[in-house]
Amino acid sequence: MAYKMIQVGTGGFGRSWCQKFLPPNIKDGLVEVAAAVDIHPQALNNAKEFLGLRADRAVGSAVILLIFRGYRAC
Ligand SMILES: NC(=O)c1ccc[n+]([C@@H]2O[C@H](COP(=O)([O-])OP(=O)(O)OC[C@H]3O[C@@H](n4cnc5c(N)ncnc54)[C@H](O)[C@@H]3O)[C@@H](O)[C@H]2O)c1
Repeated sequence: MAYKMIQVGTGGFGRSWCQKFLPPNIKDGLVEVAAAVDIHPQALNNAKEFLGLRADRAVGSAVILLIFRGYRAC
């Protein structure tokens, strides 16, 4: 079963996670990115472009904690 995760920070090194490290693991069914969060909207584009996250799953604040209450994040 895929491990559900939230990517916190999608610029800088987070971009590499979105672009390089996460996609192969998603493809292998090891992880499912439930959401991504970054304070800079431009950085969130990395999550949308490389992870295919919808706009309401790529968000800019801790409101994510309310949306995904019950999810286990790391
Ligand atoms: N363990 C490793 O292998 C490894 C490798 C590289 C970087 N790091 C660590 O990762 C961290 C980030 O490094 P970086 O080079 O990507 O930095 P960075 O500043 O380039 O990127 C950080 C990202 O986090 C976002 N961000 C900052 N505060 C936030 C907040 N409160 N909520 C949501 N998003 C927020 C920024 O907008 C930015 O997009 C650093 O602490 C660095 O030391 C660890």
